[in-house]
Amino acid sequence: MEQILNLQNTGEKDYHFEESIKTLRTNLQFCGSSLKTIMFTSSLPNEGKSEITFSVGASFGSIGKKVLLIDADIRKSVFIKRYEIKGNPSGLSQYLSGQKTMDDICYATDVENFDMILAGPYSPNPAELLEDPLFNELLEKAKEKYDYIIIDTPPMANLIDGAIIAGQCDGAVIVIESGTISYHLAQKVKAQLEKSGCRILGAVLNRVGMDYENGYYKKYYRKYYGKYDGGGGRKSGCGKQ
Ligand SMILES: Nc1ncnc2c1ncn2[C@@H]1O[C@H](COP(=O)(O)OP(=O)(O)OP(=O)(O)O)[C@@H](O)[C@H]1O
Ligand SMILES: [Mg+2]
Repeated sequence: MEQILNLQNTGEKDYHFEESIKTLRTNLQFCGSSLKTIMFTSSLPNEGKSEITFSVGASFGSIGKKVLLIDADIRKSVFIKRYEIKGNPSGLSQYLSGQKTMDDICYATDVENFDMILAGPYSPNPAELLEDPLFNELLEKAKEKYDYIIIDTPPMANLIDGAIIAGQCDGAVIVIESGTISYHLAQKVKAQLEKSGCRILGAVLNRVGMDYENGYYKKYYRKYYGKYDGGGGRKSGCGKQ
């Protein structure tokens, strides 16, 4: 892992956002030391998974935890564009299809204690790639080196990728966009995660109090709400907000 990715636009965010991310980070820490691989998922696109995944990962890095962010959204990765990553970094799809090694796709970044595996080129069969034992091997190796492996995933309503990834993770956080997701849909995602045997750590209610007008959010006010059971007994209250 020689190359270092320079990430742009990662600077200071809104105060409420930063505070909520810290709360989320603390709650995740309280879930126990056995929790290493954490996926972020949601029902529908655009609920804020990638934004929150990145911020939580960077937040763990800032307190000295060694973090690997894996972009497992092979269908629609946003990180290269969003953080203006230069060059042509290799990614997960190339590793899973046997073209690259783990070392080839694992990049250090200029964010403290924060390494990244990008999604790699679009592949027509991401679900099959993610089912390959190479994915599990990658996570097992990463667990030896990192304190947390934070995984960004595609939405679960119509795609199976999230459920496949969940089967390999220690825990999942469901991101719910405030006011848009029906109780039924959130329950469907929760049931799918449970079926895959993944512990549901809680839900993040995103975009609370934001006015959506003409395709843009007028007010960048972010608030996160999460219930973490700490032991697997109490499940997320997602969908009830
Ligand atoms: N709380 C928030 N406040 C303001 N902007 C937000 C918030 N959450 C997400 N966004 C913005 O909304 C857009 C969509 O967010 P993001 O890419 O994280 O969603 P996603 O769930 O990963 O979408 P997809 O399912 O398509 O991958 C991004 O421009 C992101 O910066
Ligand atoms: Mg995303």
